Amino acid sequence: MSVGPPALPALLPALVGAFLADRDGLAGALAHHGTPVHLIFPQVFDENVRALRAVLDRERVRYRMFYAHKANQSAALALTARRAGIGIDVASPGELDSATRAGFAPEKIEVTGPKGEAFTRIALQTGVTINVDNLWELDLIDRITRAERPGGDPVAVLLRVGELPGTPFSRFGIPLALIDRALTTLASAGSRIRLLGFAFHLDSGAVGDRVRAAQTCLGLIERAHARGLAPTVIDIGGGLRQVFTADADRFDAYVRALREGLAGRGEPLAWAGHTFGYHIESGATHGTPVFHKYGNTVTAADMLAELLAAELPEHDHRPLARVLADNLLELWLEPGKALVDHAGVTVAGVEFTKELGDGTPLVHLDLSRDAVTPADQEVMVDPLVVPRSAPLTGPPAGVFFAGGLCLERDMVTNHRVHLPGLPRPGDLIVFPNTAAYHMDLSAAAASMRLPPRKVVVVGTERGFRVDTDDGVLSGEHAREFPKES
Ligand SMILES: Cc1ncc(COP(=O)(O)O)c(C=O)c1O
Repeated sequence: MSVGPPALPALLPALVGAFLADRDGLAGALAHHGTPVHLIFPQVFDENVRALRAVLDRERVRYRMFYAHKANQSAALALTARRAGIGIDVASPGELDSATRAGFAPEKIEVTGPKGEAFTRIALQTGVTINVDNLWELDLIDRITRAERPGGDPVAVLLRVGELPGTPFSRFGIPLALIDRALTTLASAGSRIRLLGFAFHLDSGAVGDRVRAAQTCLGLIERAHARGLAPTVIDIGGGLRQVFTADADRFDAYVRALREGLAGRGEPLAWAGHTFGYHIESGATHGTPVFHKYGNTVTAADMLAELLAAELPEHDHRPLARVLADNLLELWLEPGKALVDHAGVTVAGVEFTKELGDGTPLVHLDLSRDAVTPADQEVMVDPLVVPRSAPLTGPPAGVFFAGGLCLERDMVTNHRVHLPGLPRPGDLIVFPNTAAYHMDLSAAAASMRLPPRKVVVVGTERGFRVDTDDGVLSGEHAREFPKES
């Protein structure tokens, strides 16, 4: 059944939908910095924490959750994580500062990723848990702690393991083949390092990969015990997925139409030679597109539940949750994108629209592509148009959105977006679900244009309250935040 031109309808939480429909609320948010602006919804973050907690509690898993701060730099979201009672995973001195400013105690902070000497020393001084990325780092910690705190408390570390069998290759972590060297360091006389457990983080959305990695870590726990160590933690990293689409069938139909267009059999939906990772051969498109994750319909909570229920062949096919409980082990997780899923949108203003020689409308916006896309990804959800005054009127238009930089590649969408009419200067274009990496993973002050600022939106009984992101740490607004739990 045809439902109009190809479209990529976005999932929108009720709170965000209500805010965008509230003219006063939106005007209040724009009053701070105008457009472009990132809007942050801490209550959505809080809901995401609750959803993951519900799964872990139901499965009776002992756990600790750490919000992976790299997903978003927002101070308000870090504060919300602290108030929700979870920990925080930081991967740079800047993120560590931000966590401290949000009030996290050192025991609630885990430092992950490759560090270098300066950051390692800061982590040691701060007393946070260190998730060790490589043997050089472990040797450095070993040397520093032996020299500088021979009688002091041991430093708590996790060992991140890489090159796990049956998982995608990663440049991070201590290769499994070399892990015995790490155990030798930790078990050697006079060590001031305490091994909490083993960690992994996989750049894959597949539950099966995590099951295999967890199984390997269980084996490593046994191996470490045989060396006289006493690890009790398996840290599964992040990677729990987001749901962007409101309609998976329409997403699939758009992708089919895009492929037909690339093969020359339908309306061209791709901008100037873009193929999105497909290759075209003998009149057909082949390969995997770069944007497949935007069609995902499995929630992070369901993915976590599937992982905990997965049967482990090497443990009498008992589910992972049971194996953890039977062995008195704790599960640690570091969700980033799953916690900020739907906790932010980005609002741009239309500058003007121009028509190309073939009649294609190009809608120019006051932001650049890197403010709404994570690295080189194409975001496959339709932006929403919020007209400044009268609703858009026909005829319908299949447009591309262009960014404000003088670079050919600064196209905000490289795929065609069908709208009921042409937007006018001053209309607002809202990019849904941009909090996870889209907002500030690759944003830069190119051409001396500053990246969009952040404004925090909280729904209250008296309507919506807005404040700047920095303001929430000190402001009166902080009282409106989700309560501590
Ligand atoms: C070590 C580690 N943990 C957690 C995360 C968060 O991952 P995600 O946002 O996919 O949950 C990352 C992301 O790069 C990571 O490197």
